[in-house]
Amino acid sequence: MKSIAIDGPAGAGKSTIAKGVAKNIGFIYVDTGALYRSIGYFVQLNGKDPKDPEQVVPLLDGIKIELKYENGVQKVYLNGEDVSEKIRTPQLSMYASNVSAIPKVREFLFDLQRNLAKTQNVIMDGRDIGTVVLPDADIKIFLTASVEERARRRYKELAEKDESVRYEDVLEEMKQRDYNDMHRDIAPLRQADDALLVDTTENNLEESIEILTKIVKERL
Ligand code: DC
Repeated sequence: MKSIAIDGPAGAGKSTIAKGVAKNIGFIYVDTGALYRSIGYFVQLNGKDPKDPEQVVPLLDGIKIELKYENGVQKVYLNGEDVSEKIRTPQLSMYASNVSAIPKVREFLFDLQRNLAKTQNVIMDGRDIGTVVLPDADIKIFLTASVEERARRRYKELAEKDESVRYEDVLEEMKQRDYNDMHRDIAPLRQADDALLVDTTENNLEESIEILTKIVKERL
C-alpha cells in the first residue's frame, strides 16, 4: 500500500487540498483532525475540561470512533452518531487542540490511523503523520502559509455563516492554536526531516491542488 503524509498548521488548506489530490490519484483521504475533534466534542458534551488529563482520560473508555466512507467522503461516527458536521466549530478546534496534547488521547487514536494505512492507499493529513503515525510514508509534505493568510482564509469561511466574526479574533486564535500544536511535549507539529515544504501563501486552492498533484504523481 502507498501512503502520503500531509502535515502543517491549522488553516493551511490541508484538508481541501488533500481531498482534491486524493480524488485526482484515486487514494482515500483521511482527515485525522476529525478524530481529535470528536474526542473534544465528547469532552464538551460531558462538561469536562479538555486541558485536564484527569478529567479527559477516564472518558476514553466510553468512546468508540469509526471512520466510514460514503461516496468517497469521510464521515466520522462517535458512539454510532455521525458527528462530521458538528465538530467543525471554532470552539471544538480549540478543544481538539487541547485534548491532543494528552498522551493517552494520542495513544487511543494511534492504531485506528495506522490500520487505515495498512489496508488501502491513503493520503492522510494532520500534525504528526510524517513524524509519528506514518514515519515510512512514501511521500511527506509539510504544507504551510503565513499565519495572516491562514487567518484570512478561516475568517472568510466563518464570516459566511456568522457576520459578527472579527478578523483579529480569528488571527489570535490561529496563533494560539499554532503555539499549542507546536509546543506540546508529545508529537508536536514539526516538519519531518524528509518532508517537502510547500508554502501556499501565494496560491489559491485550485493552484495548490494542481501543484501537489504534480509533486505526488512525479514521486509515486
Ligand atoms: O486539522 P484540524 O484543525 O481539524 O485539527 C484539530 C486539532 O487536532 C489540531 O489543532 C491539533 C489536533 N491534531 C493533532 O494533534 N494531530 C493530528 N494528526 C491532527 C490534529
